Amino acid sequence: MKMIIAIIRPGRLAAVKNSLNENGFTGVTVSSVKGCGSQGDIVERYRGSEYKIDLHDKVEIKVVVNDEYSEKVVNIISDAARTNELGDGKIFILNVEEVVRIRTNEVGPAALEKK
Ligand SMILES: Nc1ncnc2c1ncn2[C@@H]1O[C@H](COP(=O)(O)OP(=O)(O)OP(=O)(O)O)[C@@H](O)[C@H]1O
Ligand SMILES: [Mg+2]
Repeated sequence: MKMIIAIIRPGRLAAVKNSLNENGFTGVTVSSVKGCGSQGDIVERYRGSEYKIDLHDKVEIKVVVNDEYSEKVVNIISDAARTNELGDGKIFILNVEEVVRIRTNEVGPAALEKK
């Protein structure tokens, strides 16, 4: 099993969530986060004074799926999140050791199947 962690723009969350749902991926965890990419601090001007934005508001999406769906989920997220501007985000793919569905005690892929 894989965990797909995507850091995206808050404004793309609805599109990403809709696209995941349309493709049958309903299990998702979403958090508000702050982050910084490869450009580092970005200097901006406001009313004549310069200031640095250390951290940008981003949304983190976590989806755990069986290995065979990993590539599909990555493509769905990247296609829906892309604006072609700096800061579109990143996707990390991690191996998942085990999953437990608390209600039934099912483990492994069975714990991810739709009920
Ligand atoms: N190496 C990293 N480790 C952890 N989080 C990261 C990393 N790179 C980016 N992020 C997260 O992703 C967010 C968006 O990053 P961003 O899209 O700016 O990446 P980038 O590599 O600078 O790409 P781009 O050149 O398109 O801006 C960051 O605000 C941060 O939360
Ligand atoms: Mg960047």
